[in-house]
Amino acid sequence: MKGARILLGVGGGIAAYKAAALTSTLVQRGAVVDVILTAEAERFISPLTFSSLTARPVYTSLWDAPERIPHIRLVREAQVALVVPATANLVAKLALGLADDLLTTALLAARIPLVVAPAMNEAMYENAATQEHLATLRARGFAIVDPERGYLAEGESGIGRLAPEERLIAAVERALTPQTLAGTRVAITAGPTREAFDPVRFVSNASTGATGVALAREAAKRGAAVTLILGPTLLAPPSGVSTVHVATAQEMHDAVLANAAGADIVIASAAVVDWRPGTPSPQKQKKGERSIDVRLEATPDVLAELAARKGKGFVVGFAAETDDHERSAREKMQRKHLDAIAVNDVRDGRGFGTGENALVLLWGESGRKDLGVASKETLAARLLDAIEELRK
Ligand SMILES: Cc1cc2nc3c(=O)[nH]c(=O)nc-3n(C[C@H](O)[C@H](O)[C@H](O)COP(=O)(O)O)c2cc1C
Repeated sequence: MKGARILLGVGGGIAAYKAAALTSTLVQRGAVVDVILTAEAERFISPLTFSSLTARPVYTSLWDAPERIPHIRLVREAQVALVVPATANLVAKLALGLADDLLTTALLAARIPLVVAPAMNEAMYENAATQEHLATLRARGFAIVDPERGYLAEGESGIGRLAPEERLIAAVERALTPQTLAGTRVAITAGPTREAFDPVRFVSNASTGATGVALAREAAKRGAAVTLILGPTLLAPPSGVSTVHVATAQEMHDAVLANAAGADIVIASAAVVDWRPGTPSPQKQKKGERSIDVRLEATPDVLAELAARKGKGFVVGFAAETDDHERSAREKMQRKHLDAIAVNDVRDGRGFGTGENALVLLWGESGRKDLGVASKETLAARLLDAIEELRK
């Protein structure tokens, strides 16, 4: 988002105050934000709030601006236009192509991606007129960020509450990103699994799922239909991604075969536990014993089974290794019939539970691309670039 030029239109609804928080977030992420308020929006929030947050002039009228034709300049300079909150009135005006103030005139002159986030009373939202206008906008290629069900300003609960900021930001990021994975189905596994030892104890590992979550967010940003199969983690799944939560290796196995077998790209970044207690105790083990014996048995090999049934899908595995890592990883790739493998060097505390990682992608007999040492977000983008290149 660094350096991105964003035009933000604010409508006259109660959620106008949330547009100020959104502006602050966009500015903190490095975006340059120009703000237009409708005349009605000015009744809810002051232009001063936005000019203070953006350190730029804020626009409210076609006629008061210091220049002759502000609406054309503003949309030409922007890469994406965003309407938050979009009132029922603005949704209707956009659908009809009306242009009777600065915001609607600028949006009618826009040749850039348009993101509209409606917020209104439930009855207004459900009104057939509003729904038909939203369908028109969708069909014309507007990205509509649907409102949520929840507390509304009238003191009641219903549908019409402005989408949370995370979904608004995800829609802007998507609008700013070339849709290189549009029409592609991507399945990603992430996180650890937990294998019960008794009802309160388990065998697991230190995976947080951060790499897979970053990959899912990046693939969705590029327009893919993403399914994330996620083991137990504290991380929230990214917005716009369909998430299947699992706990054990067996559940991971079943979810992967049900959801990933038909995918165009599968990235298996989950750290599936390799051994589980053979006979978990139905009762909590008492502490009295000084030592106990537990027999571990192998869990199902999710990746090998998936690769065997993948059809035309491109399957990428992950290997976390501490020694002789590239040779072991290439051997694993060939043994499991994967198309490529991302090698995660987990020496010196890297990889698990940290923000940074080091990845090398291997394919075929000798294909190799060093993706460098970087944040998991940067590595997710580089890995998807490399996978897109290999699929060509
Ligand atoms: C207190 C109050 C709150 C309002 N909240 C909303 C709202 O959340 N969503 C909406 O669509 N309209 C809301 N309206 C109605 C709009 O302000 C009205 O339709 C206005 O003409 C919209 O102007 P604009 O679309 O040019 O910003 C509200 C009106 C009042 C008086």
